[in-house]
Amino acid sequence: MTTVDGARATGAALRFPPGFRWGTATAAYQIEGAAALDGRTPSIWDTFSRIPGKVLGGDTGDTAADHYHRMAEDVGLMKRLGMSDYRFSVAWPRVQPTGRGPAAQRGLDFYRRLVDALLEAGIRPVATLYHWDLPQELEDAGGWPHRDTAERFAEYAGRVAGALGDRVASWTTLNEPWCAAFLGYASGVHAPGRTEPGASLRAAHHLNLAHGLGVRALRAALPRSAEVSLTLNAHAVRPLTDSAADLDAARRIDAVGNRIFLDPVFHGRLPPDLVRDTAALTDWSFVRDGDLAVTAEPIDWLGLNYYSPTVVAAAGPGTPPGDPAPSPWPGAEGRVRFLPAPGPRTAMDWPVDPGGLYELLTRLRDELPGVPLLITENGAAYGDYADPEGAVHDPERIAYLRGHLAAVHRAISDGADVRGYFVWSLLDNFEWAYGYSKRFGIVHVDFATQRRTPKDSARWYAEVIARGGLAP
Ligand code: FCB
Repeated sequence: MTTVDGARATGAALRFPPGFRWGTATAAYQIEGAAALDGRTPSIWDTFSRIPGKVLGGDTGDTAADHYHRMAEDVGLMKRLGMSDYRFSVAWPRVQPTGRGPAAQRGLDFYRRLVDALLEAGIRPVATLYHWDLPQELEDAGGWPHRDTAERFAEYAGRVAGALGDRVASWTTLNEPWCAAFLGYASGVHAPGRTEPGASLRAAHHLNLAHGLGVRALRAALPRSAEVSLTLNAHAVRPLTDSAADLDAARRIDAVGNRIFLDPVFHGRLPPDLVRDTAALTDWSFVRDGDLAVTAEPIDWLGLNYYSPTVVAAAGPGTPPGDPAPSPWPGAEGRVRFLPAPGPRTAMDWPVDPGGLYELLTRLRDELPGVPLLITENGAAYGDYADPEGAVHDPERIAYLRGHLAAVHRAISDGADVRGYFVWSLLDNFEWAYGYSKRFGIVHVDFATQRRTPKDSARWYAEVIARGGLAP
């Protein structure tokens, strides 16, 4: 247990509990490149990024940050920065190119080398099995709306755990199933780009099922001491006012944004209000007897990715019926308005609001007693550039990270069991539909030369880690 005392400020500094895990996070498609090497087949992101107009500038992950070839240098950077942990994802189409059957040795070898380099550097590997790069063959067979994809995921999870389980002690099944289901299959702004709200709800259920089957496959293949987890981008939902209509808008978004995953995973049930809200889209008959026991397989911690809060109000009479663009919120279409939270913005135009992280952590402290939490992503994009001396000054990112770490510290002091914090991201990378136009790294990447330059924030973060907390 994290002790509350351990989180108390020592002197004027905000000190984190002993053993607090400090890291950075990345994802395979965003950094690896080598898209067609060593037997890797296309994922839905390789396909989607080639459709004109889907990704800014027509960018793809073909080369990305070339991490596949520069892995040793990147691990060296992390070692110099003093990280205790590194959260990376395994590319499914690299280790199981057709999405089924035996694993591809050459693909697995890359992750073996990565993990060995991390262990050698004294960094704990935290492996995520699915960060959105579904093998295209599985999408062609129906994708996440198709139940078999969950079974395929469990098979894949078991194979990767069988190959790396002797070296990797910390595992995450899925990254942000909300994005995979609703940006992928409802609004279509992410791969595979489908706009089918009913199918997106099936996708969400099958992602929950994949998670539960994946937990079972991991437990079967791993030593008992291994940690198994899930990462959600749980939304800090705030109603604009406390009018009944705005509270109902917030309830609706909380149902399809948060409880659609939290309830099956932690309570083995579907939120009844979600089933009602979405009745015009589906009867949920794809949820079979026993599924909700599978989704509720116990896990060792919940990962949270947080960037900014979600402020909502009821769609008023002046609001045009239905969104012009397909909505990623099935069951809430035309009923909810999303409002910009006030305050400064990042280059994504996302509000900087650490209070949302505090709200989320204290809510989950109350709703999920006994479930440790880990911040598996938090960070910000800014318009960084290397100055004539080659330095990258990013004071806004330092301010962002400091503010959010202070919020985490406050939540720990108030009893939230937060075990670690991973900055998104180690490197500038392929930011999905934004391509290379948004830089989230604490290390700058010149994509023409692949030269890495630690930004000021990287040095600042190294000091935080060395000190075990924030300076006064
Ligand atoms: C999260 C994703 C991650 C990255 C950040 C900015 O939703 O998990 O890959 O793109 O947003």
